[in-house]
Amino acid sequence: MLRFVILLAYLSWLSVFAMAQTVASQAYTPVVARCPTGFNLVRMAGIPGNQTLSSSEASYIQNRKTDVLPKAWKKYLSNVLSTNPSLPGYVSSILSGASSEVPTLGIATSGGGYRAAIFGAGVLNALDARNSSSDAAGTGGLLQAATYLSGLSGGSWFITSLAQANFPTIQELIFGPAIPTVSNNSWGGWNADYDLATPSMDPAIDGEYYTDLADELRGKYDAGFVVTFADYWTRSLARHFANGTFSSNFYDESYTHGAGILWSAVANTTSFASHSIPFPIVVTNLQAPGQNSSETIAGDFIPLTNPIFEFNVFETGSFDPQLSAFAPTKYLGTTNNSICVTNYDQSAFIAGSSSELFNEANFTNTFNSSYGPILTLMASLMPEPKVEYDVASWPNPFYGVAPDTFIDSAQTNLNMVDGGEDGEIIPLQPLLVKARGIDVIFAIDATNDINGFADGSSLIATQNRTLLYPSAYSFPPVPTSMGEYTAQNLTTRPTFFGCNTTSLNESTPLLIYLANGGPPYDGEASVTNTSTAQTSYTSSEIQAMLNQTFVIATQGYPESGATKDPEWPSCLACAVVDRARERAGVARRGICSTCMDRYCWNGNTLTTAAPIA
Ligand SMILES: *[C@@H]1O[C@H](CO)[C@@H](O)[C@H](O)[C@H]1NC(C)=O
Ligand SMILES: *[C@@H]1O[C@H](CO)[C@@H](O)[C@H](O)[C@H]1NC(C)=O
Ligand SMILES: *[C@@H]1O[C@H](CO)[C@@H](O)[C@H](O)[C@H]1NC(C)=O
Ligand SMILES: *[C@@H]1O[C@H](CO)[C@@H](O)[C@H](O)[C@H]1NC(C)=O
Ligand SMILES: *[C@@H]1O[C@H](CO)[C@@H](O)[C@H](O)[C@H]1NC(C)=O
Ligand SMILES: *[C@@H]1O[C@H](CO)[C@@H](O)[C@H](O)[C@H]1NC(C)=O
Ligand SMILES: *[C@@H]1O[C@H](CO)[C@@H](O)[C@H](O)[C@H]1NC(C)=O
Ligand SMILES: *[C@@H]1O[C@H](CO)[C@@H](O)[C@H](O)[C@H]1NC(C)=O
Ligand SMILES: *[C@@H]1O[C@H](CO)[C@@H](O)[C@H](O)[C@H]1NC(C)=O
Ligand SMILES: *[C@@H]1O[C@H](CO)[C@@H](O)[C@H](O)[C@H]1NC(C)=O
Ligand SMILES: *[C@@H]1O[C@H](CO)[C@@H](O)[C@H](O)[C@H]1NC(C)=O
Ligand SMILES: *[C@@H]1O[C@H](CO)[C@@H](O)[C@H](O)[C@H]1NC(C)=O
Repeated sequence: MLRFVILLAYLSWLSVFAMAQTVASQAYTPVVARCPTGFNLVRMAGIPGNQTLSSSEASYIQNRKTDVLPKAWKKYLSNVLSTNPSLPGYVSSILSGASSEVPTLGIATSGGGYRAAIFGAGVLNALDARNSSSDAAGTGGLLQAATYLSGLSGGSWFITSLAQANFPTIQELIFGPAIPTVSNNSWGGWNADYDLATPSMDPAIDGEYYTDLADELRGKYDAGFVVTFADYWTRSLARHFANGTFSSNFYDESYTHGAGILWSAVANTTSFASHSIPFPIVVTNLQAPGQNSSETIAGDFIPLTNPIFEFNVFETGSFDPQLSAFAPTKYLGTTNNSICVTNYDQSAFIAGSSSELFNEANFTNTFNSSYGPILTLMASLMPEPKVEYDVASWPNPFYGVAPDTFIDSAQTNLNMVDGGEDGEIIPLQPLLVKARGIDVIFAIDATNDINGFADGSSLIATQNRTLLYPSAYSFPPVPTSMGEYTAQNLTTRPTFFGCNTTSLNESTPLLIYLANGGPPYDGEASVTNTSTAQTSYTSSEIQAMLNQTFVIATQGYPESGATKDPEWPSCLACAVVDRARERAGVARRGICSTCMDRYCWNGNTLTTAAPIA
């Protein structure tokens, strides 16, 4: 849990409060206007098996497939070939575009606070064609070839910052540009050395900072919208994961600090407009009155039967069968077709909703916790007697929709919480939507299960949930107990799930699972298993984590005693094309057969007990 170490003494800052609104407060205020003619708030997405994507998404994907991916796959193929020229011909044929079959790849990056954001970023760096070390390692280019990219919680900090900053390299994303342009709308880096909760460690400066953040919610409150602790959290996150904050202006209230940077506005960045980036999707959970707690995994908070929500830059809603409806992201805040709200979909509020785990601390009447002073401050500035303070509140665009199956159909507001609160910390659900036709998923797991490492529990939760909705989702079989992951080293090496296609429904994707599960094989001590509660990092700490993550993403599953599998880049390529190969009616062969033997989990064991060289 985060450290909000605050002394009540700083509430004396309250006295300076009756001032004019800051520029950030204005830029954070939703705008209310008449709806455009013909406006339609809700799009029903159809029944499972026959769901539709928004026309905007469909056209983005179509354009990306035509204009961007053919070149991206060729570049990736040339990197793979430079490490191993003896791939079976079908791999080259598929990736070079000579076959009519192409893979559709999605990448999912998990929650787990800053650790997960850094680990996810480190893996994507190893897949990034713009990094010559990644190209030389034979993994570079897969990022550019992906169609979708999902994130939740810490993973949402990473992917929202990446998309809204116009897809910089990972080094530039995290550390900022070498020569920054200090302005409201340019990228300044994660500013990770400033703690999310107590940025200065000087109580006087931090005290002023807290009141600045609370003051920035004033405009939204005065405009009649519900404001909760999630908005306060959002304004802190905005200084790290949205445009406009630099070391030199961190405390300067003449800047907007990411207020007004909208998730829907990502569509206007040059990289998105040219279809150059994987389509980004952020996942949240919904906390609903009357939810069925008997469907909640022990130790978690949200039942598997609550709908999972996604925010893409065009639409927000759920593909789960109990809702299957969407509203335009740009008009979130709106509840009917006449009066339209905009400026509600702040990029940092989407990341703030996806990482909203304060309900786990239950703020109801809890003003004596470490959050107490901030809650007291907010309550005195913006009294809201009946509001639940520990969730992110979004006006419900789906009021009255699907009354028999949608648990929040009669609620005026949706209470969003951390996307991992149902136990699924890897945002897989959007990538399993059949209308998206994804046939291979690269799943990055940096969950904290034991000692800052992942133990596979998130995959078990996803398996359990997909079994509840068999008409909507197919998921490859994964081990049903955490012990099996450990015993078979499935979290300390890359593992493929769903290789035995004869036992699967044809729309079941192949899963390439890469966990932050232990130290790398090169004998270095682990630096990637930091605590989720660590909310600041020095640059050298992050660089060391990125370096080690690079090793983890490029080492594969080495022979006993070795530090690296020289065939890993080929094996990865074999997995990436495997569903396309199947559709083309070609048999696995050559190095791809031995690779699948080494990396696939089939049933209750690996197909071979020990790696073969
Ligand atoms: C699929 O949905 C479309 C419209 O969304 C509808 O026209 C069509 O009849 C549906 N097909 C099936 C088999 O339900
Ligand atoms: C954020 O800043 C970058 C430049 O640093 C710019 O390219 C991008 O368009 C901005 N994003 C948004 C959403 O305005
Ligand atoms: C930031 O934006 C606000 C509001 O749009 C504007 O008033 C302010 O002057 C800008 N600050 C700088 C330094 O450009
Ligand atoms: C994107 O740019 C267009 C044209 O400049 C503008 O009309 C639109 O409002 C922008 N969209 C967002 C979400 O900022
Ligand atoms: C809650 O879930 C349990 C277990 O699946 C089920 O038996 C029960 O009917 C559910 N209750 C409600 C109100 O849906
Ligand atoms: C539409 O929603 C607005 C609030 O955004 C409300 O003031 C207005 O009364 C509603 N109009 C109708 C026709 O329901
Ligand atoms: C939170 O606390 C309130 C009051 O103390 C209690 O009524 C409520 O059940 C609690 N909620 C949860 C989710 O534990
Ligand atoms: C998954 O489902 C199985 C069978 O119902 C159950 O025993 C197990 O506890 C569940 N595990 C998780 C993590 O949901
Ligand atoms: C798991 O890894 C350990 C250490 O590298 C090794 O000794 C053991 O044989 C591996 N187990 C399996 C099932 O591969
Ligand atoms: C693949 O699945 C089929 C059908 O379920 C099964 O008979 C076969 O043993 C499986 N093969 C492996 C290697 O697990
Ligand atoms: C990370 O790796 C780079 C290049 O391999 C090296 O120069 C740098 O010293 C490393 N940084 C840390 C902190 O380990
Ligand atoms: C490539 O990745 C390595 C490992 O993290 C990093 O040290 C290096 O700076 C990156 N290069 C570029 C150009 O981003």
